[in-house]
Amino acid sequence: MPVKKTVRDYIRTIVDFPHEGILFRDVTTLFADPRGFRLCVDQLVEPWAGSRIDKVVGLEARGFILGGAVAHQLSTGFVPVRKKGKLPGATVSQAYSLEYGEAVVEMHQDALQPGEKVLLVDDLLATGGTAEAGISLIRKLGAEVLACAFVVDLPELGGRKRLEAMGMAVHTLCEFEGL
Ligand code: PRP
Ligand code: MG
Repeated sequence: MPVKKTVRDYIRTIVDFPHEGILFRDVTTLFADPRGFRLCVDQLVEPWAGSRIDKVVGLEARGFILGGAVAHQLSTGFVPVRKKGKLPGATVSQAYSLEYGEAVVEMHQDALQPGEKVLLVDDLLATGGTAEAGISLIRKLGAEVLACAFVVDLPELGGRKRLEAMGMAVHTLCEFEGL
């Protein structure tokens, strides 16, 4: 019997991208495969069957691909967290640290209502800085982050510990060691 591929098996590693010495975990090969894409979306939503979730929030850019599919499967609305200057309406914003310098993400002020229950979705958890910025935006609007869900965890970068220290539930589908 052939062994069934796991989500991790569909993810490609590119050596020396974007810099020499970096192993880039490329989820485009997972998304491009019909079985792989369905498998990862099914596994991302699986813990929430029967739970009340009002909105899925996805982090630009790869979190949009997953977040839209997850929201569809959970029959919720989808809300984007975008990089600065992309959203046309009134926004809340949050700065966060990158490897070099700072970035800012934004969400529409009226995208979430106080008390709404939110699932935050992105493709990959590294330092957790991007997710923490997303959590801050959701909380600024008075909504509640039930959990954060990612396809890939890079445990050496400490994102899970950082989010768990904030009291977040963190759901990941696979891990890669080596950066
Ligand atoms: C990558 C990845 C996560 C984030 C994780 O996105 O898709 O969003 O980094 O890193 P962190 O946990 O250290 O914050 P990137 O900023 O490269 O942008 P993209 O999704 O728009 O390609
Ligand atoms: Mg990203």
